[in-house]
Amino acid sequence: MSSYDHRTHAANAGDVWKHFLLMEVADYCLHNCDGLSYAESHVGRPDYALSIPGEWETGLGRCWQHLPDLQKFLFFRILADLNRQGLRLYPGSARLVLEASRIQGQRLSADLWDIDPGVASSWDEAPVASFQEVRFHRGDGFSGVFELLDVSFGGLLLVDPPHLDPASALLAERLLGRAEERGWVALLWEMMGERTSPECNFEAYELEFKGAGLSCGRWAGAVVSLAGADGALRQRLRRRIEMFLKIMRPTGTF
Ligand SMILES: C[S@@+](CC[C@H](N)C(=O)[O-])C[C@H]1O[C@@H](n2cnc3c(N)ncnc32)[C@H](O)[C@@H]1O
Repeated sequence: MSSYDHRTHAANAGDVWKHFLLMEVADYCLHNCDGLSYAESHVGRPDYALSIPGEWETGLGRCWQHLPDLQKFLFFRILADLNRQGLRLYPGSARLVLEASRIQGQRLSADLWDIDPGVASSWDEAPVASFQEVRFHRGDGFSGVFELLDVSFGGLLLVDPPHLDPASALLAERLLGRAEERGWVALLWEMMGERTSPECNFEAYELEFKGAGLSCGRWAGAVVSLAGADGALRQRLRRRIEMFLKIMRPTGTF
């Protein structure tokens, strides 16, 4: 059983970067397909309650003052919509993708893995619309997604293991490579400096937290690797990241 519990980390600076990019990629994929397959190897809970003190205060909490400007991004529109009475609830990665597909009226078929029994029960109550199919699998997400990729073609995948020890880093990179071969767009999230395996070959999007006015304990930043994206998506991401950073740090340099 995993000893990692994402509840204490939800909405921290690392989550903000991961979910901002995930939502930008999901937005693009949902616009460019008729129904989307979504998979997550390490999904966590559908949502998280935010209380004080919490890591979220120097992550999402610092973004909240820029909310009017940040609402040009789907991620922040969803957050604003779920928190009309004040910032209390943070949707996890899969819930964010479900919300994105609901907003766009696009069919979503999701396969989600986690080994934690508490996480498994939290999915019993998840808000799923009639045109969405969600299958939660309790078990190892690496082997689950490898098997899924053998029998399906095309979709969006998030790989978000709790720790990137050498064995999981290798598996994660293999999974991204396999996903790309099978026509999927895949993202892998990690804290900057966590990587202990040889350098990943995929395009990497880094955020140094300080440069965006955020912080997260001993971590200086976070990195999202992206596989299977076409040129248009990569170009769009670069533009959108620049817009995000301008809002977060209007007078500073990056
Ligand atoms: C970083 S959290 C997931 C956060 C979530 N992806 C998000 O962004 O909202 C990592 C999750 O991996 C789960 N986990 C740990 N080992 C696993 C394994 N071998 N297979 C699947 N899930 C695992 C943990 O229970 C935890 O919920």
